[in-house]
Amino acid sequence: MNTEKILLRAVSDSVNSLYGVSDPALVQIQKTRKEFTGDYTLVVFPLLKSSRLSPDATASAIGEHLVAHNPDIESFNVIKGFLNISLTPAFWAARFSELSSDSDFGQAARTGRRVMVEYSSPNTNKPLHLGHIRNNLLGFSVAEILKKCGNEVLKANLVNDRGIHICKSMLAWQLFGDGETPQSSGLKGDHLVGKYYVRFNDELKKDPSLTDRAQQMLRLWEAGDPATTELWLTMNGWVYDGFDATYKRLGVDFDRMYYESQTYLLGKALVEEGLSKGIFYRRDDGSVWCDLTSDGLDEKLLLRADGTSVYMTQDLGTAYRRFTDEKLDALIYVVGNEQNYHFQVLKLILKKLGYSWADAIFHLSYGMVELPEGKMKSREGTVVDADDLIEAMVSEARDMSAELGKLDGLSASEAADIAEMVGLGALKYFILKVDPRKTMLFDPRESIDFNGNTGPFIQYTHARIRSVLRKAADSGVDLTAPAPAPATYLPAELELIKTLSDFPEIVLSAGENFSPSVIAAFAYDLAKMYNGYYHDHSILRESDLAARAFRLRLSGQVAATIKSAMSLLGISVPERM
Ligand code: ARG
Repeated sequence: MNTEKILLRAVSDSVNSLYGVSDPALVQIQKTRKEFTGDYTLVVFPLLKSSRLSPDATASAIGEHLVAHNPDIESFNVIKGFLNISLTPAFWAARFSELSSDSDFGQAARTGRRVMVEYSSPNTNKPLHLGHIRNNLLGFSVAEILKKCGNEVLKANLVNDRGIHICKSMLAWQLFGDGETPQSSGLKGDHLVGKYYVRFNDELKKDPSLTDRAQQMLRLWEAGDPATTELWLTMNGWVYDGFDATYKRLGVDFDRMYYESQTYLLGKALVEEGLSKGIFYRRDDGSVWCDLTSDGLDEKLLLRADGTSVYMTQDLGTAYRRFTDEKLDALIYVVGNEQNYHFQVLKLILKKLGYSWADAIFHLSYGMVELPEGKMKSREGTVVDADDLIEAMVSEARDMSAELGKLDGLSASEAADIAEMVGLGALKYFILKVDPRKTMLFDPRESIDFNGNTGPFIQYTHARIRSVLRKAADSGVDLTAPAPAPATYLPAELELIKTLSDFPEIVLSAGENFSPSVIAAFAYDLAKMYNGYYHDHSILRESDLAARAFRLRLSGQVAATIKSAMSLLGISVPERM
């Protein structure tokens, strides 16, 4: 049980026996704000009706009752109707031994809920860019956090593998490619296909008829023309190889793959169903629409006059398939905020079709990432390529780490591993520490600063602790032997224990808000607090052996918790650096 729950129970008992209040909504506790003394704070205002006393008198009466009846509660103070409660060092000592013996600390009990997180969802006509990086990192992290909150999680990717944009790349390759393949040119498959997408747009300036030719190709594709299908399979295959390499390097993965080419037909069927039920209507030109004006939105096209489907059509089919095949309790779409309207409409249409599960759809809408040079362009050719950015981060991490002597004494392959870990850790942490909804500026240099609120700072703290523990083991200390609680704790030790014991609540709050930034802030606070402790107190050189044993155990728990928090952000931490 987490600390807050333990205390809430004690407070509820007191409030009930003093004032007969049993409504849990009236008993609200929160963590005590930093500027006050205490661990948890009770807001007494909702209780005044029952106590018939002033706020301060009510708070004092509850405080006295709590101290008298709970050996774990040490003291209280009252400030302007807020009751600040402090728990005893013995309580915290017990909490510490409980949490440090839990090998899966922070893991919530199973909720029985099955949740799908869709993320990434690229188009196959070009490589991934900086926007996809934020998307992939958020999606992966939110999925890991939701698992930690006790849910069964399916990570899903929806690949837009069909449509006019892919035909443009295909046509340009056919006309100008001269048989180029990833093997022949050494170009990564997604980059190769992206190159022909750019080429198409360049050639179009000289020859406007290319648009018609691309459309003709799309019609051939929809008709199942064998040669077109063959080319489409080949070029998409190159793109998937390229995407897979990027996903692997980023450390993200998927449990389910969906392809728009396989879901758009089901979408069309759902549109037909809506037509026959009178939920949609057909215009004179044959196109099909859904009228959302009474919901304050506009009219939405669902099938074009020529019978071809639109973006929304496949999303109807995809959602239907997911809920029926997977028995989901929730479906979270990690998609940029430029698609807010699309998802609002998607939910509404599904509801109109009578699917109650539409309420279980949540659009995790995130803001754009900008680079210091200015806005990330969405025009082809000027986007910040994901692979280039990752490579630049790793090489920057290599230079910075070498400069600071953090690679000294490591073998070449160890140094390369550290550079990879630090470069990616910097990128991931910098992006995930920002609330998803906010637009953000990614600053590569600032993200690698070993002294700032960065991934590398936290990674370094982990490595430092692990090295202390290695030294202890080398000097013959048995780190697995039970360490008896010391007679007294340093204030810094109590602070560390309290922070550690917050982890399960932090995980739940990150899950409720779909916000990895909550985990990032926790990992940073913990690392910073530990560094202060490490700076002020000796660990290995502590002469009191019981105190030393405890300090080592506390350090080990801090390292394990940092590692676990960082893994929820998809960030690995080094053993040495
Ligand atoms: N492929 C789309 C794009 O690149 C994003 C798809 C988002 N997911 C969805 N279910 N609509 O803009």
